Amino acid sequence: MRAADIADQLSTILVTEEQIHEKLGELAQRVEADYEGKELLLVGVLKGAVMVMADFSRKLRRDIVIDWMAVSSYGAGTKSSGVVQIRKDLDTDLTGKHVLIVEDIIDSGLTLSWLLENFASRGAASIEILALLRKPEAAKVEIDCRYVGFDIPTEFVVGYGLDYDERFRNLRDVAVLAPHVYS
Ligand code: PRP
Repeated sequence: MRAADIADQLSTILVTEEQIHEKLGELAQRVEADYEGKELLLVGVLKGAVMVMADFSRKLRRDIVIDWMAVSSYGAGTKSSGVVQIRKDLDTDLTGKHVLIVEDIIDSGLTLSWLLENFASRGAASIEILALLRKPEAAKVEIDCRYVGFDIPTEFVVGYGLDYDERFRNLRDVAVLAPHVYS
């Protein structure tokens, strides 16, 4: 698809590539300070978090370990039913680990709510969350997220890892999908 065709499917740019990188740099500095002297395990939630993990982890000037989890929500016909299925589990034993979950977006909060409970049962020493985006008005459960990039309105956003039907993940900015694409 040509660039002009892609642009036609987006209504507005919500967060630019520059804004994302600046924010991830700020968050990296906070994380470095907060985890000084502690081993840190970053857990990315596939697939959306791939871009955030790639850029955020490279801004950290310290030793870390990265692992991945793939989950999918299903049931009741909607993705945000709160029922979560593990498609790929961690390779790492969480016992005694300081875990920072890296997410692209908190929407209803149901995925993270389930993940927090699941990780807590595995004996992690601490569990915190870093999310590039959060939709406060879409929250169905309150998630205590220590590192938030941007609070955004409840719009259908794509880019920087976020997809519509698996497309648009490679956009460098976060953009609002034009309604004609999904309606
Ligand atoms: C997205 C996102 C979060 C989740 C947030 O993943 O990456 O994991 O939805 O939504 P919630 O707060 O309502 O639970 P998605 O299920 O779309 O899979 P993907 O990352 O593979 O695109």
